[in-house]
Amino acid sequence: MGIEHVEPGGPREIASALRTELPAALGVFAAPGRVNLIGEHTDYNQGLCLPIALPHATYVAVARRDDERITVGSRQRDEVFESSLPDLGPDTIDGWAAYAAGVAWALQDEGIELPGVDLLVDGRVPLGAGLSSSAALECATALALCAAARIEPDRELLVRACMRAESEVAGAPTGGMDQSISLYAEPGHALLLDFRSGDRRQVPWDPPGHTLLVVDTRASHELTDGGYASRRADCEEAASRLGLVSLREATEQDLDLLVGRARARAKHIVTEITRVDATVAAITQGDWVRVGALFDESHTSMRDDFEISTPELDLVVETAREHGALGARMTGGGFGGSALALMPTAAVATAADAIAAAFAAQGWDAPASLTAPASPGAAEVTA
Ligand code: GLA
Repeated sequence: MGIEHVEPGGPREIASALRTELPAALGVFAAPGRVNLIGEHTDYNQGLCLPIALPHATYVAVARRDDERITVGSRQRDEVFESSLPDLGPDTIDGWAAYAAGVAWALQDEGIELPGVDLLVDGRVPLGAGLSSSAALECATALALCAAARIEPDRELLVRACMRAESEVAGAPTGGMDQSISLYAEPGHALLLDFRSGDRRQVPWDPPGHTLLVVDTRASHELTDGGYASRRADCEEAASRLGLVSLREATEQDLDLLVGRARARAKHIVTEITRVDATVAAITQGDWVRVGALFDESHTSMRDDFEISTPELDLVVETAREHGALGARMTGGGFGGSALALMPTAAVATAADAIAAAFAAQGWDAPASLTAPASPGAAEVTA
């Protein structure tokens, strides 16, 4: 039994099809989705995380208009969003368009003057898979709008504007990892992000003889459901009980001052931040067995202490391990979405098929797989 493999598509072909549909386009801009190697739910706790960019991206073609209108069409949707720039606001944009038009609102709110635009989107990051399709749309839109406004993009400002679109317009109080990796990724590298100091460091990531297999469980994952926000609230409460500004300041000894749910949530965050540091050290030493073990520990922590895994994610992780993975874990916000496995390259196809067979045996919808070489960050697609 085979598994569906999601291909990223060729950037030039995708861009050229968008230009044909929007002949007045002044350019096409691509921004990648991401898979987080390790460091989950740490970003809004001022912690560390280590994402890579996927080869799967969202593409946005942009044409200037002579009026103040903004339209957003998508090859994946029938309806076109239409409004005028001065009317955009957190309460006036609904649904998927929030991630594109919300960025136009946020950029204006940050003092950038935008012309009217037509935007046409082709999203190649699987939707609802916990692979940051929303950040990819935000970041590609942000670059497209800067080009339309004829300004050099200031990527720090774009991260902020995209985060504001997501939290203030779409209503998902996320932590910034997804926008940072989409805008700052470099091929062949993971990005170590430190949300206390604001530092970013490129870490070479290309394990020889191994492949990162990503499996989309196709079980729902929505950051605007209550689960994500409630984990964030649990963390804030645990930090405040300890009298700390964030759980980044907490130590393992501090955990003894907490009980019940607050202790479990804080334990995940404190140990996960330590695991990110340990993973970077193991990668630097080429110790892939240790990297795998850290992935396994991270999964257990998310399953038992942070309680964001699902039976589908657990099954992917267990089946990948049985078929030779050095380590495996769920990745992203949780409550569905995707898991990753660090596999010997020769074992990938068998493991992926075994995962599909295990899903079929449970009577679940078929999962899909992606391979994830660390890919470049957001940029214009040039011919
Ligand atoms: C989602 C959010 C990120 C981060 C992850 C969990 O992807 O958008 O900010 O919190 O979940 O690590």
